[in-house]
Amino acid sequence: MTILITGGAGFIGTALTRALLEDTDEDIVVLDNLHPQVHGEHPILPALFDRPRVNFVRADVTDPLAWDALLAQTRPRIVVHLAAETGTGQSLLQASRHTHVNVNGTAVMLDALARADRIPQRIILTSSRAVYGEGRWRDLTTGEYFYPAPRGAAQLASGLWDAIAPSGGGVEFTAHEASQVEPRPSNVYAATKLAQEHILLSWCAALTVDLTVLRLQNVYGAGQAVGNPYTGVLTYFARELNSARPISVFEGGGIARDFVHVSDVVRAIEAALSAPVGAAGHRTFDIGAGASGTLAHFATVLAGHVGAAEPDITRDYRLGDVRAAYADIKAARDGLGYEPRITFEEGSRELLTWVAAELEEALSA
Ligand SMILES: NC(=O)c1ccc[n+]([C@@H]2O[C@H](COP(=O)([O-])OP(=O)(O)OC[C@H]3O[C@@H](n4cnc5c(N)ncnc54)[C@H](O)[C@@H]3O)[C@@H](O)[C@H]2O)c1
Repeated sequence: MTILITGGAGFIGTALTRALLEDTDEDIVVLDNLHPQVHGEHPILPALFDRPRVNFVRADVTDPLAWDALLAQTRPRIVVHLAAETGTGQSLLQASRHTHVNVNGTAVMLDALARADRIPQRIILTSSRAVYGEGRWRDLTTGEYFYPAPRGAAQLASGLWDAIAPSGGGVEFTAHEASQVEPRPSNVYAATKLAQEHILLSWCAALTVDLTVLRLQNVYGAGQAVGNPYTGVLTYFARELNSARPISVFEGGGIARDFVHVSDVVRAIEAALSAPVGAAGHRTFDIGAGASGTLAHFATVLAGHVGAAEPDITRDYRLGDVRAAYADIKAARDGLGYEPRITFEEGSRELLTWVAAELEEALSA
């Protein structure tokens, strides 16, 4: 039996491969092009990819010939589709690249599976909380839910960070929950992740393949590419602290996020992998830490670990950021038995240690 992981040499994929080697006896095939933005110009794969049960194939998901060669030799039972261009801000200026890899790459993979008669039992897609865009809010005056348009420069420059209610009164954000909140992508990356969901949903329904979509909140932990300027905000904060610079937090510090540790994400993927095949059909789950907070809070915890100065809370902003994003994980708890285990206190200490070690290694190289 074989599990195929596209993008398996990345942050989440490496952690998943490591866990699967421990937890299953299935063979693992990793297809990854070792994207220079993630892996640098001279990628070094961890020793784990030399293990006998792991077959690493350097190839691009958009390359049909590479797929044909791979599928001539392997029959994946399950495909975990992680390969993607992931730069949210970057996707606005490189829309065709993001669309080519994320959308076309998914379609090329599906065509290859069909062409080779290698229809898997199940596909697992790591989608993103980004599909919700600004998300759903409640107008506290009327009690009605509404979906605000992306916040423009004028709104952000005047410090109106939260969504503006139709009544003009107070507002409340509602947690991401796939059965309740509609996706409203507000950048190209998000649109490509939603397109991946739709393409997979149509294909899997037609060919009776189980599909599990995991909409991940912000994933963090050791292993996230420190040199990639488009990686997560926590890795960026950790880099700042490591250089003895105070962390600068935008939008008055009040941006709300849900940071889920990579090992908890792996737990969610493994739960999706081991659910009985055939019973599930198509399911979409929101995967978070089960707790949210403001960036000011998270930055303060990080700074506290190293005795650094309090974060610098500013009125700066970045166009394209959403004000709030956190998940209601009840459906994942009930449907997958998913239970996050790593607290931010614990995970953030590990992150700081990892970032410091990586930066030191880069300096000495
Ligand atoms: N990390 C997060 O916070 C987060 C949040 C939501 C969703 N996701 C999703 O999870 C998945 C994995 O994310 P990650 O954080 O591990 O990212 P990552 O960038 O560390 O890993 C992605 C991997 O895909 C590979 N890749 C990129 N383009 C490819 C191509 N054309 N062909 C083959 N391989 C290619 C890269 O080399 C890399 O190893 C992505 O689909 C992403 O959209 C991640």
